[in-house]
Amino acid sequence: MPYLSPALNVMVAAARKAGRGLIRDFGELENLQVSRKGPSDFVSAADQRTERILIEELSKARPGYGFLAEEGGTVEGKDKTHRFIIDPLDGTTNFLHGLPQFAISIALEREGTLVSGVVFNPVTDEMFVAERGHGAFLNNTRLRVAARKNLGDALIATGTPFHGTSGHEQFLVELKAVMNASAGIRRIGAAALDLAWTAAGRFDAYWERDLSPWDIAAGIVLVREAGGVVTDIDGGQHMLESGNLLAANDALHRPMLELLGKARG
Ligand code: IPD
Ligand code: CA
Ligand code: CA
Repeated sequence: MPYLSPALNVMVAAARKAGRGLIRDFGELENLQVSRKGPSDFVSAADQRTERILIEELSKARPGYGFLAEEGGTVEGKDKTHRFIIDPLDGTTNFLHGLPQFAISIALEREGTLVSGVVFNPVTDEMFVAERGHGAFLNNTRLRVAARKNLGDALIATGTPFHGTSGHEQFLVELKAVMNASAGIRRIGAAALDLAWTAAGRFDAYWERDLSPWDIAAGIVLVREAGGVVTDIDGGQHMLESGNLLAANDALHRPMLELLGKARG
């Protein structure tokens, strides 16, 4: 059974409640209002509704905590030592296209350290949870990153830059290097799930650039607690600030870091 601290319990309950609304919206996509934040960056009524439910539920249980949420930004709490980092719907493009790969992502940060993470895919009912020092779990099963040691056997996840974002050339160079060294590459379109699936050993490694803190905060706790290594693409610990990230098991992290470094030249 997973260890669920009182705070993690609150996060799981909030994710379940918000997940029910997301499922309803997913079943009625044709009725959903959708607007554009920027080129290829859509926000739907589902993103906004889900974020509202999450903030409502989490604030009820932890009134003083602050928030960093994708749609609403920063909300200062009275308690300056805690904040929730929330992506109400990671994988909006999948969601809007009827692809059942999306998730709610909630992390808890205490005094600047990520301590708990929840990533919930309401369609598959997969609840990934992790608490610093207490391991990572998928529903009731303990998670462990994959054991593969050779890049040639590894299945690697990534995210492709899209229309309106920068870094396309750099990504193509990195993609080519990883293509030539690995068993395969996947782009599932939800960074929180990329990390959760890396924690679960479905992916051997995952790298992506230009991410936001809410995409990755919960997933970072999951991968670390499943025994994996997470750094930025330069090997440092500034993933939330830089928005670039590499996650892998211990054996593959260094080779991936070197491969990406060499590809950039
Ligand atoms: C996006 C997804 C996607 C990643 C993008 C994110 P959103 O989040 O995580 O996989 O490649 O960079 O912005 O917009 O669906 O919450
Ligand atoms: Ca996201
Ligand atoms: Ca989102």
